[in-house]
Amino acid sequence: MKKVLVTGGIGYIGSHTVIELINAGFHPVIMDNLYNSKIDVLFRLEKICGKKLTFYEIDLREKEKTNEMFLKEHFDAVIHFAGLKAVGESVEKPLLYFDNNVHGTIKLLEVMEENQCKSIIFSSSATVYGDLNPVPFQEDMPTGVTNPYGRTKLMIEEMLEDMYAADENWRIVLLRYFNPVGAHESGFIGEDPRDIPQNLMPYIAKVASGELKELSIFGDDYNTPDGTAIRDYIHVVDLAKAHVKALGVALKEESFFEKINVGSSNGYSVMDMVKAFEKANDLTVDYQITPRRAGDIPEMRADIEKAKVILKWQPEKSLEDMCKDIWRWESRSRT
Ligand code: NAD
Ligand code: WQD
Repeated sequence: MKKVLVTGGIGYIGSHTVIELINAGFHPVIMDNLYNSKIDVLFRLEKICGKKLTFYEIDLREKEKTNEMFLKEHFDAVIHFAGLKAVGESVEKPLLYFDNNVHGTIKLLEVMEENQCKSIIFSSSATVYGDLNPVPFQEDMPTGVTNPYGRTKLMIEEMLEDMYAADENWRIVLLRYFNPVGAHESGFIGEDPRDIPQNLMPYIAKVASGELKELSIFGDDYNTPDGTAIRDYIHVVDLAKAHVKALGVALKEESFFEKINVGSSNGYSVMDMVKAFEKANDLTVDYQITPRRAGDIPEMRADIEKAKVILKWQPEKSLEDMCKDIWRWESRSRT
């Protein structure tokens, strides 16, 4: 059984991936510093999986502790989720983002190299396509970032590409996520933002529950059919499964490097999402139209041909599944 280190495995996408790894016969070991997550998630995961999981509370930048863990566990591969992801915060505190995301990843890669563990799946983002490309975004389009968070993702992508150029014994997959949403169908784990959510779907859920008063729809004057901005939402369980596929494909090769989009290839507007959430859960979401949010672009959508061909993966969950699962999680997490 292949042993896989999941950095950031207590977080939103990492925790869902731990379940899919177990379902696919891998042995995940979780490392997280709990900066943006709660230990409670570990116990919830154990409940879902029906077994004890190995967890290390380590910060990526603590190289000695990471090395001790590697010497003890002998990993076959790493799925690297750990990182900070709030765009606005990254503009205010760029050094925090470069230190945590870039410096942290350098320390992890050093330990991997020293322990001859040369297989990594990295959490990149559609944000690396910037605001100049036409939709749908394809992996070979030029990159260009608009904020420090995005720059950390692009820097890590480039670092990994340079490492592969220097040593082709690496197996590296850069997964570029579009907009992950939804929750595990058990309702036991889901997205649990520290503060008021910045992202659309967790915000909608908190308006529906009454915790927040109303949604602000940022702009209805975009050049889109209903004037609100379009995104490519991907269910977090489908996204988790893409990691398992990527791992399986990479581990079969002696040498591997690919950048792969993970989205649904469907574009839904903000208004589509509000309506879908209302319909799926038979409730209403109060909203008002406000000015555009700085830095937002009209449309983002993935071309997912590469994921279909190389990973033999495609999304299985519908928009209705996304909306129902978010609401189940939001309702259960409040009880
Ligand atoms: P998350 O914040 O829920 O999970 C990240 C986890 O990493 C958290 O549990 C946090 O405590 C941990 N972490 C952060 N810094 C760490 C460090 N230095 N050492 C150890 N642990 C650390 O975020 P998520 O939504 O699950 O995102 C996972 C990854 O996917 C991130 O790298 C993020 O940038 C990337 N990504 C997320 C999205 C999204 O919309 N959620 C989109 C594209 C890419
Ligand atoms: C979606 C749409 C908003 C909140 C972000 C990051 C990106 C990636 C995914 C990590 C937009 C609108 C939102 C609200 C609204 N993360 N909206 N009212 O901005 O597409 O992407 O998360 O890599 O890097 O930038 O996602 O969920 O914030 O917004 O009208 O209260 O919903 O304007 O059109 P976004 P989002």
